[in-house]
Amino acid sequence: MVKNEWIKAGYVSESIAEGTDLKKEIRRMAEAKNAVIMAHYYTEGEVQEVADFIGDSLALAQQAARTQADIIVMCGVHFMGETNKILCPEKKILVPDLNASCSLAESCPADEFRKFVDAHPGHTVISYVNTTAATKAVTDVVVTSSNAREIVESFPQDEPIIFGPDRNLGSYINSLTGRNMLLWDGACHVHERFSVEKILSIKAQYPDAKILVHPECKGAVVKLADKVGSTAALLKYAVSDASETFIVATESGILHEMQKACPQKTFIPAPPDDSTCACNECNYMKLITLSKLYNCLKYEWPEIEVDPEIAKRAVRPINKMLEISAKLGK
Ligand code: 13P
Ligand code: SF4
Repeated sequence: MVKNEWIKAGYVSESIAEGTDLKKEIRRMAEAKNAVIMAHYYTEGEVQEVADFIGDSLALAQQAARTQADIIVMCGVHFMGETNKILCPEKKILVPDLNASCSLAESCPADEFRKFVDAHPGHTVISYVNTTAATKAVTDVVVTSSNAREIVESFPQDEPIIFGPDRNLGSYINSLTGRNMLLWDGACHVHERFSVEKILSIKAQYPDAKILVHPECKGAVVKLADKVGSTAALLKYAVSDASETFIVATESGILHEMQKACPQKTFIPAPPDDSTCACNECNYMKLITLSKLYNCLKYEWPEIEVDPEIAKRAVRPINKMLEISAKLGK
């Protein structure tokens, strides 16, 4: 027998009547409940299509901070829901599947990170937004891939800095800024898997193609890039650059918005090195389906909760990021 909680959580779709127009019903419920649906670029295209707002991690946090909605449905991974809850403690924050974790956030458990920070006194602690609320609580300022360079540069050149958890983004920022930040040894399982050889072999077939790379990728992949940037920055570049073809080394969900914005251009997903698949998907982001979104709005469940004590400490570094970003016009 199907457990009621599973139906409520959206892990099964038995509760959805056959013939239901999911997209129409989702939009109807969102309006009736004054709920805003936000989606990250890595979610399924059909999820992005019903969202009120699609964005990168920075834009999603900024949007959460200013929304007037009573409910935020965060179609993305768990830490994104937590960030929203920390910024809007009075609102109901829903994530359609709480199993949507993040390997990068998991690579930095808060207790171990705290020990690392304690072992290096006198350092400013900068953490990527892909962290749990508890890790953010041990942080001085949060960054995303959209603003990491500028926020690091807002500190004096000789400021001792700990940067976590992404070692690839951290070493990329070190190389851009000539700093020597102390790096936590974490990574994203999706972005680590891109293959230099496979990207070069696609480039040999399409010599005029531009290579777009997310800074969570390994240094060897970043070196191939015509453009390195957050999902939003890569999208912007694809729209404004005159090239006809792009090889895209980030999670393949971004291709949906790229193709929508530029129907006449060709976007080729960069393949991972250890499989026969043509593209590289985040299995966590892909847990967010239209039927789970439907159930989530219907039952207003599952809801994100953050320990108020942790939230009190985590809100400071997030707000600091939003303040610096606003000053930088980001
Ligand atoms: P951005 O959306 O900030 O580029 O982050 C990518 C990512 O991995 C989100 O999980
Ligand atoms: Fe986390 Fe990587 Fe998935 Fe982004 S793509 S949510 S960093 S596991």
